[in-house]
Amino acid sequence: MSDHLMNTYARLPVSFEKGNGATLIDSDGKTYLDAISGIAVCSLGHAHPAVSDAICEQSHKLIHTSNLYQIGNQQKLADKLIELSGMDRVFFCNSGAEANETALKIARKHANDNGIENPAVIVMNNSFHGRTYATLSATGNDKVHAGFTPLMEGFIRVPFDDVDAVKAHSANQNIVAILVEPVQGEGGVHVPKPGYLKALREICDTNGWLLMLDEIQTGIGRTGAWFAFQHEDIKPDVVTLAKALGNGMPIGACMATSQAAQTLVPGNHGTTFGGNPLACAAGLAVLNTMQVHNHIKSVVRKGADLLAAFTAELSGQTGIVDIRGKGYMIGIQLNKPCGELVTRALEKGLLINVTRGDTVRLLPTFVMSDEQSKHLVSTLSQLIKEFLNE
Ligand SMILES: Cc1ncc(COP(=O)(O)O)c(C=O)c1O
Repeated sequence: MSDHLMNTYARLPVSFEKGNGATLIDSDGKTYLDAISGIAVCSLGHAHPAVSDAICEQSHKLIHTSNLYQIGNQQKLADKLIELSGMDRVFFCNSGAEANETALKIARKHANDNGIENPAVIVMNNSFHGRTYATLSATGNDKVHAGFTPLMEGFIRVPFDDVDAVKAHSANQNIVAILVEPVQGEGGVHVPKPGYLKALREICDTNGWLLMLDEIQTGIGRTGAWFAFQHEDIKPDVVTLAKALGNGMPIGACMATSQAAQTLVPGNHGTTFGGNPLACAAGLAVLNTMQVHNHIKSVVRKGADLLAAFTAELSGQTGIVDIRGKGYMIGIQLNKPCGELVTRALEKGLLINVTRGDTVRLLPTFVMSDEQSKHLVSTLSQLIKEFLNE
């Protein structure tokens, strides 16, 4: 292994050569069932022909021109996202952290425009928003902060899924926005009580704050709706996307209402690569494929079946704290740290993830067959039982 990479990841000892649908093949030819999808990125499965073809075709025509010029694919992708989300404007970038930076800059600019000198954004404990300075400061995880203090100022932390904790700050004139994940992903797959986002919407309306949703993990169908906010029938002011939007082609987006978007004018924000013809061609192929094959509908059914199957297999087992999820975002929390399950699963040809130390997180591809799903449930449940009975 090369010593020339920065030591930022404790990588597993496997390297993949090829992918096909819900499976990956390593350099020794061993096949794995992928139940993590490159961390909620390859929702349509690996090497999806529609996405690969779109990338190939576009790359032969034109890859990049910069945002100094009109970009047809970018405008088409924006039109499609607006049609699907009901938002008004989009800014394209290259990653989730950049999408959240855009959201936070909108909040700051909104504050500056309104004469608020020390603006603050309400963020949640246990959240994850990225690794850049603003986004790691917004993140509610001490491990992400460690070694990088002082953090950027202007964040007020409250517990997730606690409406009263947010209301308690209503009198604070410095607050300009709330930034929240509709379902906490990295934080252990926490689904808030129904009505949470609606209640936050109401608080924002009452106080003139922006409701900014980080849908980087939950967006593009992952929870069984195009965007998780659609489960509660609300319109946020700002929504951030990345991950599954390109099915592996790096692309991020910050969508906003006209009112929130108008805070940014030429010169306020930008990107060299963001929204280039190639990335947007991939994004268009993803959204089109999702629509043509009605993947959202199947995520609703398959997600519910998968959760029910794990519940049936594991609910009587000592050591299981909780089995929870929404759509194809599933968390199985154990009563002890379980990081080693990742290696044990790898040995069995299964790719899973453990987050927050004690929670097995599953983010399967939308193309996982019912047979593969059964295999996932039986293999992983067996591993979890063995681990808990040791
Ligand atoms: C909810 C959420 N926000 C932001 C990010 C950061 O995205 P990226 O790694 O593309 O910068 C992630 C990545 O895991 C995420 O899950």
